[in-house]
Amino acid sequence: MTYFEQHRGEYLDDLKAFLRIPSISTDPDHKGDIRRAAEFALDMLKKAGMQNTHLIEGEGNPLVYGEWVGAPGKPTLLLYGHYDVQPADPLEEWLSPPFEPQIRNDNIYARGAVDDKGQTVILIKAVEGLMKQHGRLPVNVKFLLEGEEEMGGEHIESFVKTKPPLLASDAAVICDTEMFAPEMPTLCIGLRGLVYGEIHVQGARQDLHSGVYGGAAPNPIQALAEIITTLKDKDGRIHIPGFYDRVVAPDPKEKEAWARLPFDEAEYLEKEIGAKSLTGEPGFDVFERTWARPTFEVHGIRGGFTGEGAKTVIPAKAVAKISTRLVADQRADEAIAQVSAAVAAACPKGVTVEFKLIHKAEPSLVNPDNHFIQVSAEAMKQSFGRETVYIRSGGSIPIVGVFLESLGIPSVMMGFGLPDDNLHAPNEKFHLPNFYRGIEAVAKYLEMLGGVALTR
Ligand code: BES
Ligand code: MN
Ligand code: MN
Repeated sequence: MTYFEQHRGEYLDDLKAFLRIPSISTDPDHKGDIRRAAEFALDMLKKAGMQNTHLIEGEGNPLVYGEWVGAPGKPTLLLYGHYDVQPADPLEEWLSPPFEPQIRNDNIYARGAVDDKGQTVILIKAVEGLMKQHGRLPVNVKFLLEGEEEMGGEHIESFVKTKPPLLASDAAVICDTEMFAPEMPTLCIGLRGLVYGEIHVQGARQDLHSGVYGGAAPNPIQALAEIITTLKDKDGRIHIPGFYDRVVAPDPKEKEAWARLPFDEAEYLEKEIGAKSLTGEPGFDVFERTWARPTFEVHGIRGGFTGEGAKTVIPAKAVAKISTRLVADQRADEAIAQVSAAVAAACPKGVTVEFKLIHKAEPSLVNPDNHFIQVSAEAMKQSFGRETVYIRSGGSIPIVGVFLESLGIPSVMMGFGLPDDNLHAPNEKFHLPNFYRGIEAVAKYLEMLGGVALTR
């Protein structure tokens, strides 16, 4: 048995304890849990032999830092993860309580199991295992963990943008993405960006009797529907002037590689979507539509009467939560201006409209020829015994764009989640064999990068 195999029980115990802390960043009632999770992560870094361990306190949730930089001349990696999680609702759909981790069929079920506590623990235990075995690491590492990723990552962004010398490094390593399919080692080389906000529509001064005033008074919910359908048509084409101007088509080599991925559209529709048919822009396949094209989505509409029974009212206001996902080379600030202008231009008669930004993230795309990615692909291949595939993901990790632009470093995204891990949904899980294999794959990666396979 290898060292890592011998210590699986301890890794699982730490993961379970981490998962028991309901560190939901979007809910102010959980501030205390956020701090407990940050401190728990800090303790794991100490236990892993990291030095200069401390919480970086600022306006937002604490950042967790720890480093080992005793390998002069070797590369320095910035290891990123997030200790905050999504809310757990709807609670009644969980088969076991979200913050009481339970193992069923080799999967550990809990909110944050894979996104991103489990995958953060992978990074920490890989480093701990090498430290415990050899008393040193083959490369330099700097951990930077945040507790606001699920709410936009505002404070880590402003910290990293100051380019603190503390963070100087050659590449970032992030375990917060998914494998393309079970048993298929996967590197994610592109993420979409995000502009998330609310469209506020105001009609009459107050709610009105729909019989007395209907026919003369404007209806803000109707207006909202018109604005939304103006911004995206029924073919999935976005009509925000200038929105596609910077969109870069994937290069032919990348598209060829995507075409070789095992993918059955009917099965995807049936297993992952469960609707009558897929939708989206004609002329682009599913990979392109979800990885390399921008989106416009409505997440919720608030307004008017939604209780039981009937109430004949013309509401005075309505709000829609919307987002657009961005792809390279779109710019978040430019997209915000474009969305605001398009919303204003689509405003029907009789109402006023305003777009209010909630948060944003830049898209990112890294060149897979990069040395740090190539070595990672080889380490993943050796750990899983299969060729590594390169994919993009439609999701967003806000800090990736900031690492690239402010620190000038690429992110190596080694993901160990599975497509059916229920991220952000009830019954989130992490496949334990991937947890253990992830730890070994990251350790192998650090050894290969150091250029010396330290002997076991
Ligand atoms: N880890 C996810 C992003 C992700 C999921 C990347 C699956 C690749 C595959 C991350 O925690 C997340 O959920 N990000 C949010 C962004 C945020 C600003 C709320 C997202 O993508 O919606
Ligand atoms: Mn995540
Ligand atoms: Mn998430």
